[in-house]
Amino acid sequence: MAALGILDSANLNGGQKLAVKYFTVAIALFAAQVLFGLLAGLQYLYPDFLYGVLDFSVNRMLHINAMVVWLLFGFIGAVYWLLEDESGVPVVGLALGNLIFWVFTLAVVAVVLVYLLVQVGPGELKSIWLINEGREYIEAPRWADIGIVVCVLVFFYNVAATFMKGRFTGIGGVLVLDLVALAGLYTAGMWYTPNISMDQHWWWWVIHLWVEATWEVLVGCLLAYGLIKTMGVRRKIVETWLYIEVALLFGSGILGLGHHYFWIGTPEYWLAIGGFFSALEPIPLVAMVVHAVFDAGHHKLKSTNNPALAWMIAQAFGNFFGAGVWGFMHTLPQINLYTHGTQWTASHGHLAFFGAYATIVIAFVYLAVQKWRGNVWMSGELVGGWKWKWALFLLHVGMLGMTMALLVAGYEQSQIERAIEGSGWMGYFAGQAHPWFQQGMVWRMISGWTFAAGFVLLAWDLMTIGKRESRPARSVEMREAPAMA
Ligand code: HEM
Ligand code: HEM
Ligand SMILES: [Fe+2]
Repeated sequence: MAALGILDSANLNGGQKLAVKYFTVAIALFAAQVLFGLLAGLQYLYPDFLYGVLDFSVNRMLHINAMVVWLLFGFIGAVYWLLEDESGVPVVGLALGNLIFWVFTLAVVAVVLVYLLVQVGPGELKSIWLINEGREYIEAPRWADIGIVVCVLVFFYNVAATFMKGRFTGIGGVLVLDLVALAGLYTAGMWYTPNISMDQHWWWWVIHLWVEATWEVLVGCLLAYGLIKTMGVRRKIVETWLYIEVALLFGSGILGLGHHYFWIGTPEYWLAIGGFFSALEPIPLVAMVVHAVFDAGHHKLKSTNNPALAWMIAQAFGNFFGAGVWGFMHTLPQINLYTHGTQWTASHGHLAFFGAYATIVIAFVYLAVQKWRGNVWMSGELVGGWKWKWALFLLHVGMLGMTMALLVAGYEQSQIERAIEGSGWMGYFAGQAHPWFQQGMVWRMISGWTFAAGFVLLAWDLMTIGKRESRPARSVEMREAPAMA
């Protein structure tokens, strides 16, 4: 074994070697997300900026597609990270998993190049197959859709077969069932229909049922594993919480889908169903905060990996505020009538995606870096420990700044454009011209630069943390081995 503090893949098991590849691509795509976000934000302030070269619509598409893909890469990496540890056996199809990693990565590069260089095509099926499908967040062309399904099926096979060969823990069982739903739902976004209402109807099955049901359950599993690993929390407690959370998440999140069916031409009963069930969605998120904070308090914040623990606690709060509180604010149809299509949505979208999902992936990358460097010390008084704290601080100041700036702008739009001017063409421009909107866009940009600074620090920290440490990781008492199924 190499000396402590040196990156050496001999420190990792097979699944983990694959995981760090996924994490590397994830962080690179995160950088792309930030870059295209900054360009799109600048275009709000200087509409001529890059006009005709990289239009707002292209930057926006790259911004949010990079986000979806880096989070997916992060999740796949995180699952490969814990797979051998949880199941107790080596990954069943590791060579296939490696091959698929390269296929997936090359496909992403090809799609990004087409987005950048070709951008749009004529309104015919060929464009859908080769350029982009035009469905927000999952714009990938049809050939890539099929490729993604194949990659995800291989990933699913690896996870399910490995657990079946080894042992099924509670976390493993929930994870496998959840991946069936996650992969299955993706196909709902692949059918082409010229009816825009029907198209949106199915598209939301992917978008909403991913982030408010299957992704939430996935991060519940990751959080459970992370708490056990960093603090030695008892598995029985963590898994009991996990089952309660999963029941509540699916119980409210599935029919909560209705909050996107208010105004797209679906039957009126969705107003009641969507309003009621989505209003219940914050409850499991409260449970997740209580769970994480209770465990952290119980173990007096003593952890093997302080940055990972800090990001997991950030996840619990970010999920609760971004998804739960910010989502709840506009989820009743009586309110959504006014907020729909304003910056209010963008405010919620930013805080929720960052708070619920970016955070947990970052936590797992910290877990990975620690072990990669031979399980080096990452608790208090870490050499060079200022970097992770400042990165966490700047990313949060930037994100909260953007969220608040967009909220103020969205509030103003709801009042002026919607309530007073009645949602008409002129109302739209009255809303855009108001100082609260214009200043909101400036503050979003200032906060965006702060976020970008935090990101640079984060990337630097991930490459260097633990390098100058020679102490082995703090050990936490593991009270029980995983139960055999
Ligand atoms: C981590 C979980 C969540 C994420 C990542 C998320 C993200 C988003 C995003 C990006 C949008 C904009 C979609 C678009 O482009 O049209 C959106 C819309 C919406 N979200 Fe969430 N959300 C989450 C959870 C929630 C929860 C728990 C609620 C309710 C309590 C909620 C309520 C809404 C509503 C009502 C809209 C529609 C806004 C409109 O179009 O008027 N979200 N969400
Ligand atoms: C440098 C930081 C960032 C800047 C300047 C930025 C800027 C922007 C801009 C200008 C848009 C288009 C909004 C519109 O259509 O009106 C956007 C959309 C979006 N961004 Fe960001 N962004 C940043 C970081 C992030 C991060 C870190 C996340 C999540 C992890 C994120 C998630 C989203 C989402 C989900 C949307 C779509 C929102 C919706 O449809 O309502 N952004 N961003
Ligand atoms: Fe939703």
